[in-house]
Amino acid sequence: MSRRKQIYEGKAKILYEGPEPGTLVQYFKDDATAFNAQKKAVLDGKGVLNNRISEFVMMRLAEIGIPTHFIKRLNMREQLIKKVEIIPLEVICRNVAAGTMAKRLGMEEGTKLPRSVVEFCLKRDDLGDPLISEDHIHTFGWATPGELDEMIAMTLRINDYLQGMFGGIGIKLIDFKIEFGRLDVQMDNGVTAHQVILADEISPDSCRLWDRETDRKLDKDRFRRDLGEVTEAYTEVATRLGILKEANNKSAPKLSVVSNDD
Ligand code: CDP
Repeated sequence: MSRRKQIYEGKAKILYEGPEPGTLVQYFKDDATAFNAQKKAVLDGKGVLNNRISEFVMMRLAEIGIPTHFIKRLNMREQLIKKVEIIPLEVICRNVAAGTMAKRLGMEEGTKLPRSVVEFCLKRDDLGDPLISEDHIHTFGWATPGELDEMIAMTLRINDYLQGMFGGIGIKLIDFKIEFGRLDVQMDNGVTAHQVILADEISPDSCRLWDRETDRKLDKDRFRRDLGEVTEAYTEVATRLGILKEANNKSAPKLSVVSNDD
């Protein structure tokens, strides 16, 4: 691993050069950060869990026709992905008011929204990822109108699917954040075109997930709000998704990985 060239180090992941051109290796760290990295901790096993959960979600989304950067999982902490040019936007989709939306609009957390809402934030840590409008995106050229339409359509489709997927295991999808990238695609006529594909990760780090019966938080808010049992909650999500074996719940994720070959 150390012989590979590191391309980028983020708060929770590292990207290395991949084995073939056009590929990267995405390594999931145990590091947790919140409030623009003002709060930090190392959560034993978080990276392993997020690698597995994100793999699972990306594979399910690929099955319903969402193009993603995920190629295959390499080991407990790494996955092979397609190299893309990341579009500098965080696309947030919300079904229930929570976090910054609840705060910004003075809504009680847990209020169901009349319909799903898509928001955009500019990916700029130094500015605290500010909320922006579609007009900002057009004006400053962060994405083309066509790319924006595709991102919105994919986000709503992903939301629809994930609400059903998590609903089936007794979990409410409150909100989530996704990122997209541009992939160079060689057309038949030799022209290179850009395809917008889902990138980054989808995990309890980037979603709000509440138990349907108790509203217990099964996501990164446990870390942000010092609720404790963070990796236990992530393990619970993985277990309910069928990624980890029930019996090994306590000792997961080290020994309890279910084979992916089924
Ligand atoms: O999470 P926070 O309260 O700071 O902001 P939010 O806008 O309420 O977050 C909406 C959703 O996007 C939550 O599921 C967050 O976990 C996720 N998010 C993220 O993954 N990364 C960010 N930089 C900001 C939000």
